[in-house]
Amino acid sequence: VIRIRNRHENDRDCTAASPEPVLEVMNFLNEVAADYPRAVSFASGRPSETLFRDDLWTEAPSRFMKHLTGLHHGDANRAAKLLAQYGRTGGLINDLIAEQLRRDEGLACVPEQIVVTAGCQEAILLCLQALCTGPADVVLVRNPTYIGITGAAHYLDVKLLAVEPAFGERFSDRLASLVSSLNVTGSVPRALYLTPDFDNPTGSVLPIEERRAILEICSRSRIAVLEDNPYGMFCYDGDRLPTMAAIDEAGVVIYMSTYSKTICPALRVGCAVVPPRLFGSWSESRSLVTELIQRKSFLTVNTSQFNQAVVGGVLLLENCSLGRCARQAADHYRHNRNAMLASLERAFSIRDCGIEWNRPGGGFFLTLSLPFTFGRREVLACAEDYQVLPMPMSFFSLSGSSHTNSVRLAFSNVEQPDIEIGIDRLAQYVRKRLVA
Ligand SMILES: Cc1ncc(COP(=O)(O)O)c(C=O)c1O
Repeated sequence: VIRIRNRHENDRDCTAASPEPVLEVMNFLNEVAADYPRAVSFASGRPSETLFRDDLWTEAPSRFMKHLTGLHHGDANRAAKLLAQYGRTGGLINDLIAEQLRRDEGLACVPEQIVVTAGCQEAILLCLQALCTGPADVVLVRNPTYIGITGAAHYLDVKLLAVEPAFGERFSDRLASLVSSLNVTGSVPRALYLTPDFDNPTGSVLPIEERRAILEICSRSRIAVLEDNPYGMFCYDGDRLPTMAAIDEAGVVIYMSTYSKTICPALRVGCAVVPPRLFGSWSESRSLVTELIQRKSFLTVNTSQFNQAVVGGVLLLENCSLGRCARQAADHYRHNRNAMLASLERAFSIRDCGIEWNRPGGGFFLTLSLPFTFGRREVLACAEDYQVLPMPMSFFSLSGSSHTNSVRLAFSNVEQPDIEIGIDRLAQYVRKRLVA
């Protein structure tokens, strides 16, 4: 097991990220999944392979080449050379992405605000690196949180702090008091990372009034909101809420997008969108874009232009909106979510001993609360004796030692009959634990 040490290892602050879990957790899960290939896995939030559209991908590059040739006065040879050469670090398809974000997310942006990245993961990494340059700088997160931000923070040696509301307390109220107390301790909160829509790992949604309150607090304290939105287009009930970027008037939201879930993860194409006036300043905005590009030029040089050509071609073929594809996908995922809810209802008919679950309105994940601790040992027991793999929620907690009584269940890439089988197996395990 690889153990990373970082400069915060000796911190006493119980909300600070402990250095150990991230790599170890990923290793552990990969090993368990490899050791029990026949187990029904609710562990990974991959998009459904049944939705992959190889016909679209094969058509997309030639559609994009036509477009690029048009931009070069019909010179196909020039366009081909340009595509195969090292590319602009900021990206090749920024104009198409800007249009897609306008149509699908209501985000008014221009290509110059966008840095195309190797997936959202690189956008997270670049933003953390550019925003946190001083020793007192910290990034705020919900707890539990997406493992990608925890991993990026460890990689960069950036300190994360959890905003953890007490029972019944609003997130924004906790955020406001944490920010004031940090002012006293000398820590400088530079960013707040959030997945407001159908959060990974919990599946929850931030209400609109919370979005507004958070923007207000962050604007007052010059804290950038890193809005990560891979699941917003997969909404199963009612209307979507506006993204925080779409209602951001103060210029605090850096929006991060990815094509991993709407097209496919193999592309490794995503982006960061810097607001036109960061904290009200046009020049701060320009210098952040420049800084992200400079840092990227040493990290990945540029995002694969071949892969950008696939994304660009798909966008051209789909009239710069992924709405149609995402609606089809959402139908599929909604069925999966419903199958999981129905299976849970059947398998745990008595909800009286601390067994509860949420009904996510979108996304890939559901939270199941259990009346006992569920960690590594329990995952192994489930895999070995019951051939089912849930994901302990504690794996996503900053300390690795909170949220010990719940699991994340991913329903995105499991066939519907397997959802029922897997939940039945999990229920057998839970029943055995309850009578033991
Ligand atoms: C919250 C969150 N952000 C981003 C991503 C996707 O990142 P990438 O674009 O690097 O594939 C995921 C995928 O699991 C995710 O859950």
